[in-house]
Amino acid sequence: MNTPRLTVIGTGYLGATHAICMAVLGFEVLGVDVDQAKIDRLASGEVPFFEPGLPELLAKALESGRLRFTTSFQEAAEFGDVHFICVGTPQKQGSHAADMTYVDASVSALAAHLTRKALVVGKSTVPVGTAARLTALVKELAPAGDEVELAWNPEFLREGFAVEDTMKPDRLVFGVASAWAEERLRAAFEPVLAQGVPVKVTDLATAELVKVAANSFLATKISYINAMAEVCEATGADVHDLAEALAFDTRIGGRFLRPGLGFGGGCLPKDIRAFMARAEELGVGQAVGFLREIDGINQRRRARTVDLVTELAGGDVAGKRIAALGAAFKPNSDDIRDAPALDVASTLHRLGARVTVFDPAAMENAKRVHPELSYGESALDAARDADVVVLLTEWTEFREIDPAAMAAVVAGPSIVDGRHALDPAEWRAAGWEYRALGRP
Ligand code: UDX
Repeated sequence: MNTPRLTVIGTGYLGATHAICMAVLGFEVLGVDVDQAKIDRLASGEVPFFEPGLPELLAKALESGRLRFTTSFQEAAEFGDVHFICVGTPQKQGSHAADMTYVDASVSALAAHLTRKALVVGKSTVPVGTAARLTALVKELAPAGDEVELAWNPEFLREGFAVEDTMKPDRLVFGVASAWAEERLRAAFEPVLAQGVPVKVTDLATAELVKVAANSFLATKISYINAMAEVCEATGADVHDLAEALAFDTRIGGRFLRPGLGFGGGCLPKDIRAFMARAEELGVGQAVGFLREIDGINQRRRARTVDLVTELAGGDVAGKRIAALGAAFKPNSDDIRDAPALDVASTLHRLGARVTVFDPAAMENAKRVHPELSYGESALDAARDADVVVLLTEWTEFREIDPAAMAAVVAGPSIVDGRHALDPAEWRAAGWEYRALGRP
């Protein structure tokens, strides 16, 4: 069969990356968004968020003439054979459930113009059962009726590795309801599959579940080691060494076993909450009840970091100067959604501390959401006259700080290493009082 023309609906983090990479891989791609300003920026070659390698690929895709953008769903429906739905599913206000407004609106808007055979592919992270519901919706709204099919292809990309994860993912998952849908998906990922990327073909519900099950597992692994950190703190044991020793067991492995301040970002926290909410609706809330504990352990790490800073500040942070190194939820990202770093910084501020933040990429976002905090020009600038320094995001440039140079600018050389990013021996040798979560 012919090479499909692709549309990507929603040009946020996931959609923009998918659209750009698919055009670079040789497909004709139309990016669709309701936000004209976003479309204009992308069409002029500007990636509206921080992602290493993506601006270069956008330039390449635009130059090839294979990537265009529009706000018209009619144009999208006329152009595309395979339509990827990449809009966000944020946490609902005042609830743990996922807000499906954008998914429902974009699928409805597209379906209304589908007058010929086409495949609509959901990529967004959704409550299990969504694909079945959308199948009925599409068939009802589309002029082409039963000619239009729905499939699910969950996305596992990590911020900071978005290009790599799209071009050569660990696996592809195709949730399909027919052999035709599978064939169309195989055609739409032909260059990726040609590299030997494994593909798992399943039903729609399983495909939806793979995503939330994977994120729940990853969150569980992080909270597991952070729970061990709590035990270490009560016994004088060292969670850093414990994690390294566990990692040698190939059944356990070392990835996602880094103890510290815990997980944040736009996916893991909201996905485990939405999963719990959906499981409750399905009457199997008990099966994933442990995720409440995973969330709780994660939140306690933030509180414990505030406690350590308070201890080093002499029991009270009021009036003390605190340098907060990091704002992004993880390094190589400017994303501050549910960022543990900013949670800690703003809690310290609420307790009366004078907090100065520095982050290599997330300053603009942090200033917008937390105008009450002060901001430095560099790590050293933020640390000037600080009573306590707290490292909250493990950027490489923080790992490379010269402890002697920083000791020379602070009021008192005390540091809390919230991410186990520094060498305690080196910092102590330079005169610092060094503290880390779960380490003696
Ligand atoms: C995550 C999933 O990894 C990805 O597959 C999914 O598509 C989206 O959600 P992302 O949010 O980009 O990706 O970040 P990730 O690299 O997974 O890190 C999540 C959080 O966990 C970060 O705050 C990070 O600092 C923290 N983390 C990660 C730890 O605290 N310890 C670890 O060992 C690993």
